[in-house]
Amino acid sequence: MHIQVTASSLKPTAATADVLIIPVYSDGQLGKTLPEALRRGLGVHMRRVEFTGVWGTSIFLPFVKGSKAPFVALIGLGDRSHSVERHQEAMRRGVAQTVREARKYEMRSLVVNLYDNDTPGQLAAAAVEGAELANYRFTEYSTKLKKEQASQSIKKLSVVVPTAKLLETRAALSAVENVIDGVALARDLVNQPADAMRPEVLVAQARAIEAKSPHIKARIYDRREAELAGFNAFLAVARGSEVEPYVIHLTYTPKADSDSAVFLVGKGITFDSGGLSIKTGEGMEDMKIDMAGAAAVLGTFSVLEKAKPNVTVHGLIAACENMPSGTAYRPGDVLTAKNGKTIEVLNTDAEGRLTLADMLSFAVEHKPQAVIDLATLTGACVIALGETVAGLWGTDENLVNQIKMASAQSGEQACQLPMPEEYESLIQGSISDLINTSTAGKVGPATMAGEITAAMFLREFTGNTPWVHLDIAGPAHTMRPLLPYNPPGATGYGVRLLLEFLKSYGQ
Ligand code: BES
Ligand code: ZN
Ligand code: ZN
Repeated sequence: MHIQVTASSLKPTAATADVLIIPVYSDGQLGKTLPEALRRGLGVHMRRVEFTGVWGTSIFLPFVKGSKAPFVALIGLGDRSHSVERHQEAMRRGVAQTVREARKYEMRSLVVNLYDNDTPGQLAAAAVEGAELANYRFTEYSTKLKKEQASQSIKKLSVVVPTAKLLETRAALSAVENVIDGVALARDLVNQPADAMRPEVLVAQARAIEAKSPHIKARIYDRREAELAGFNAFLAVARGSEVEPYVIHLTYTPKADSDSAVFLVGKGITFDSGGLSIKTGEGMEDMKIDMAGAAAVLGTFSVLEKAKPNVTVHGLIAACENMPSGTAYRPGDVLTAKNGKTIEVLNTDAEGRLTLADMLSFAVEHKPQAVIDLATLTGACVIALGETVAGLWGTDENLVNQIKMASAQSGEQACQLPMPEEYESLIQGSISDLINTSTAGKVGPATMAGEITAAMFLREFTGNTPWVHLDIAGPAHTMRPLLPYNPPGATGYGVRLLLEFLKSYGQ
């Protein structure tokens, strides 16, 4: 359910709401349009708690003199001279934090004062994004969560901006509502238990997107068709499970003719038990999230019709389950990927790179301008970068820079890691071209730089096509409130970044 969002030019004190939100830069100055009594009232609180508008800080105050709203929230935007992107991220976090507080007190409506900012449209969009993301809950299987969401969810948010900025603000708000829909779908898909999120459910989702989007077509490969197409590495992974595997190929064609095409490839393992190289019980607890890359691609596609990027966008998902059984692929098996390279399987738990090998090979056959894959690929990446930052690798400086820009603008963080030449030897086979896990030594219980050798393995299937890989094993889901706009569970990571990236091709 969406928050009902409106933009107006009413004076902030005229707009009635349960919580009045006021952004403050780190010079601590309160906007001139705020009434004198309110500014005095806030000044008292600010001095008491030493709130000075530092980036990422916020306070939630009851009974502020001069305020009609029962609560006032102050949000620190940091240095006035910093980039709009930086201010936007502070806004997302501050409003999300405010939403968390407001929910506790069952305060249902928010008003954000953007009268005194130079970039109210962009800040309004960030405010709505933070609020909507923080207000999300996956309630399907819990009466308690359903009740909680009914009583606590934020119902209304209004932003007040100068009259001259009203039109651009409304446009920014409608774009952000679309983005949020994509994120919510990705979260819903990832939050579903694996038993309810089988490959065929991802297929049904792709079909549903096709049905409501005149510019999107879906081509589905079943097991036999995937065999004919040469997706052998993927089919080897799928062999251990009784659920049917599918390859999903979505194509969005823009209205205006476009010479450019990009491929978005998402890892779609609906459950990763590890296969015969089976995980520990604890290790597979969260492994329903192993299709988060696929969910990011589907979430993005679900809103492309409205986002209208001026580029042909392909979405590719190899969807299957990784299970141990009498028919499962084994350690020692040698597979031939779609591009002809042979891979000796040393560990059946390094399955994502096998399914992606076929998808990347297929993508580059079409000679697109860019291939971007998103995959919950390695635990090593979570150890390296933690729960909020994705690993980023690429073969083309321009494309890498475009992705970095989209990352900064969306607030979805990614950090580039290297592909040192000398590590290439770690994934070379003795009886095959490649092996699916690195022969690097151990550091304690973990293999050295497993996230890097996994990325380098994928590169073997990308030919000369500009390619970027995002290892989203960390940021795809969260257990702790490190980012106030991500409630526990799936985050929908990737949708905001991808939509921002596609926007750079024009609309
Ligand atoms: N899906 C996992 C990676 C993962 C781990 C995602 C934790 C999210 C959280 C992947 O298929 C996997 O099992 N990778 C192995 C690779 C190893 C066998 C080389 C890993 O990271 O341990
Ligand atoms: Zn695995
Ligand atoms: Zn996996």
